Amino acid sequence: MSNGILIIGACGQIGTELTLKLRELNGNKNVIASDIREGNKELMKSGPFEIVNAMEYESILSTIEKYNITEVYLMAAMLSATGEKFPDKAWQLNMESLFNVLNLAKVGKIKRLFWPSSIAVFGPTTPKENTPQQTVMEPSTVYGISKLAGERWCEYYHNKYGVDVRSIRYPGIISWKTQPGGGTTDYAVEIFHKALIIGKYNCFLSKDTKLPMMYMDDAIDATVSIMNAKSEHIKIRSSYNLAAMSFTPEELALEIKKIVPEFKILFNPDFRQKIADSWPKSINDISAREDWGWNHNFNIKKMTESMLNNLYSKYEIV
Ligand code: SER
Repeated sequence: MSNGILIIGACGQIGTELTLKLRELNGNKNVIASDIREGNKELMKSGPFEIVNAMEYESILSTIEKYNITEVYLMAAMLSATGEKFPDKAWQLNMESLFNVLNLAKVGKIKRLFWPSSIAVFGPTTPKENTPQQTVMEPSTVYGISKLAGERWCEYYHNKYGVDVRSIRYPGIISWKTQPGGGTTDYAVEIFHKALIIGKYNCFLSKDTKLPMMYMDDAIDATVSIMNAKSEHIKIRSSYNLAAMSFTPEELALEIKKIVPEFKILFNPDFRQKIADSWPKSINDISAREDWGWNHNFNIKKMTESMLNNLYSKYEIV
């Protein structure tokens, strides 16, 4: 086999759907899923899987050699909320895993690398609305600090060693197949499950906390597009702003109520409120649109309809 693709952290929220999409596009056997634990049935049944610890260089190297990997997607990370509970571990995982793949690319073992950044790179001093690509960046979470440092290292490895690394600053990602874990934007997924199972949700953010969000289909589309773009079109080698929609928990609850009229929401902000308050409310992603043709497909209405339809089937509610 030649030109294999490796996804590290394939069992997480984005990794699972990214793996399935890449298998559909490139053939199941050419896309190797890897993680420190096994994933859901659909993922495990669809193609090869290896246990790989993103923090162990040798573990990644041997998998790359075994499958003739040329392209790597590093999706393993500790997100914002868990990161605040375990700051040392978050820094260690997020940075060591990135250095492992950057160094493998530097010595020619990886030809093209995808590494996700986040809206968490912005902080309380960043302009909140229509946040530009280049602006004040003073993140206040360990997760955000690790992503900003990672962005600088990606650009450095590209400029200094010619590493073909590509990156997107994901907003909160909403999906139905795999649950997110440990993020501040997770409420926007939990809310759908609770709406269908018990008809009410106790939200950990206040009703007017507006945050940038994106449906999984768009996030996967963006990831595949940036990786397929011609190298000369990727003018930013730190990470691209990316946007689709912005809304508050109250606005999302209203949208859900249009389909689940009995749905009730309560607001009990916890420690995650402070994290959310430090992030932008909306993002300007003109560079991604101009440089490699990014275009989103889902707004809040279309996303809500798709989430509820898919979850109705998943929970076998008729
Ligand atoms: N979804 C992430 C989080 O909430 C942001 O990138 O931590």
